[in-house]
Amino acid sequence: MPPVLALTEAVPADAVALVVGISPAEAEGARFDDAAQSAVDAFGADVATLAAVLSRDKVRGNASDVVAIPVGNRLLLAAGLGDGTPRDLRRAGAAIARRLKSVESAAVTLPGNSTPGHVRALAEGLLLGGYSFKVTNKPKPETLTSVQLVVASPSSSAHALKAGVTTATATMLARDLANTPSSTKTPQWLARQAQGLARKTGLEVTIRDERQLKAEGFGGLIGVGMGSANPPRLIELTYTPADPVAGHVVLVGKGITFDSGGLSLKPNAGMIPMKTDMAAGGAVIATMSALRDLGVRVKVTGLVPAAENMPSGSAQRPSDVLTQYNGTTVEVLNTDAEGRLVLADALSYADAHLDPDVLIDLATLTGAISSGLGKRHAGLFCADERLTSALIDAGAASGEGIWAMPFVDDYRVALDSTVADLSNVAVSGVPDFKGGAIIAALFLREFVGRRRWAHLDIAGVGRAEADEHEVSKGPTGYGVRLLLHWLAGPDPLKGLRGRS
Ligand code: BES
Ligand code: MN
Ligand code: ZN
Repeated sequence: MPPVLALTEAVPADAVALVVGISPAEAEGARFDDAAQSAVDAFGADVATLAAVLSRDKVRGNASDVVAIPVGNRLLLAAGLGDGTPRDLRRAGAAIARRLKSVESAAVTLPGNSTPGHVRALAEGLLLGGYSFKVTNKPKPETLTSVQLVVASPSSSAHALKAGVTTATATMLARDLANTPSSTKTPQWLARQAQGLARKTGLEVTIRDERQLKAEGFGGLIGVGMGSANPPRLIELTYTPADPVAGHVVLVGKGITFDSGGLSLKPNAGMIPMKTDMAAGGAVIATMSALRDLGVRVKVTGLVPAAENMPSGSAQRPSDVLTQYNGTTVEVLNTDAEGRLVLADALSYADAHLDPDVLIDLATLTGAISSGLGKRHAGLFCADERLTSALIDAGAASGEGIWAMPFVDDYRVALDSTVADLSNVAVSGVPDFKGGAIIAALFLREFVGRRRWAHLDIAGVGRAEADEHEVSKGPTGYGVRLLLHWLAGPDPLKGLRGRS
C-alpha cells in the first residue's frame, strides 16, 4: 500500500523521521532555509551537526541526494532539492521514498517559498519512487504508511496535493496492470478490470467480445487475436463531466496483453518484456479512472483494443489479408507488426462513430522509436501545431518527455501492397527507408480520416531497465501524467475544437 500523504503546518511531535530540503549554495556546499532550520529545531536536532555532516560529505543538495543522520532512535534526513523546480522536487520525493522504505512514518518540511506546484511534484515523487510490484505469498515487508508534508499554508496546497495523489495513483495503477503476468492478464481480464474501475469512478463501459467484433468488422483485432486461446476484446470507456464544456477527446491505447510476435515469432530475449505490450492501453484505462477526481471538463472516451498475439494452428499467417474496420484491406507480411492492426480498427471506429475534436493514440509500437529517441522521450507524430505544442508543454510540466517526429510522405510507398490496399510493414522492392517508427505512423494515418490526431510511440519510454528518479524498474505508467496534466489544465481544447 502506498503511504497516505497529508498537509500540516508544524512538524508533528511524534514524527520518527524528519526530512528537510537543502539546495546547492552559490559557491560551494549546501544551504537550507528558515523553514528547514526551525523544523530541525522542532525535531530536537542540532542544525550545526547537520551542517557539519553535509560539509564533511561534500553534499551539495542536488536533486536525489539524501543524507540520513540518526537522532536518538529517530532519523533526520537532508534531501537535495536541486534547482527547486517541480522536476527536481519530484526527483527529491522519489529519493526520499526510496530511503524511507522501511520507516513507518515521516514528516517532510518544504521550503518556505514552495508553491502548490511544488507540493504536487513532491507528492508524485514520494508515491512513484516508493512503487514496487511483487507476486508473492510471503508476508508484505514493513513500508512507509504515512507522510506529513509541512508547509506554511496547508489549505492553499490542498488542491495540488489531491491532484498529485490522484495522478500518482493512476500512474501506479497503469504500472500494476502492465506488471501483471500475461497468464492472468488476458484480454477478458483487462476488460474486467476496466469494468470494475468504471463502476468505481463513474464511467460508462462497453465491452465487445470476439463474436461482436467479428460481426461488426473489426478485422484487425480478430486477425491478431485468432492465434490465442484468449479471444480479443474492445474496451470502450466514456467519461461525461458533471459540469461540461464543449469538446470530445478520444484516447486509444494499444492493448496487446502478450506479444510473442505470432508466427513471425520473437526471439526469447525480445519476448520477455512483451507482457507490457498493453502498457499504453493500461495508461488509457488508468487515465480514464482519474478524470472525475481531477474535475476534467471535456468529454473523454477511452478505447483499448485488447488481444493476445500468439502463434498456433489458428494464428494468422504472414501473407494473410484482413479487412480493417473501415474496409481497408491489409496484407499481413509480418505478424509481429500487430499493434498497428488493432489500432487501425480502433482509430477508424472513433472516426466513424465518436466525432472527436482530438484523437490521440498511444502505443508501444516500434523498437525503432527507441533507437532514435532513446528512453526519455516518446515519439510524437502530429500534423497539428497547436496540439503538438499543447502535448509537449504537458509533457514538460508533468515530467514525461516527448519529441516531435516527421511524417515523411516519401516513405509511404513502402506500404503499397500488390494484393491488398496496404501492407502492414515495408514491402521489399522499394528502397529500405529505415525509419520504422515513421512508417508505422504512416500506416496509422490511413485510418484517422480528417481528424485532428496525435500518435505517441511509447515503446522506448514504456519500460525502464532500472530505478531512476520517479520511474521504477519495469513498466513506467508513461502517458498517465502527460494526459492528465493536459486534460485537467485550464482549457485543454483551446483552439482545438471542430475540424482542423
Ligand atoms: N510491441 C512491439 C514493439 C516493441 C519493441 C515495444 C520493443 C517495446 C520494446 C511491436 O509489436 C513490434 O513487434 N514491432 C516490430 C515492428 C516490425 C515487425 C516492423 C519491431 O519494432 O520490431
Ligand atoms: Mn509485435
Ligand atoms: Zn507489439
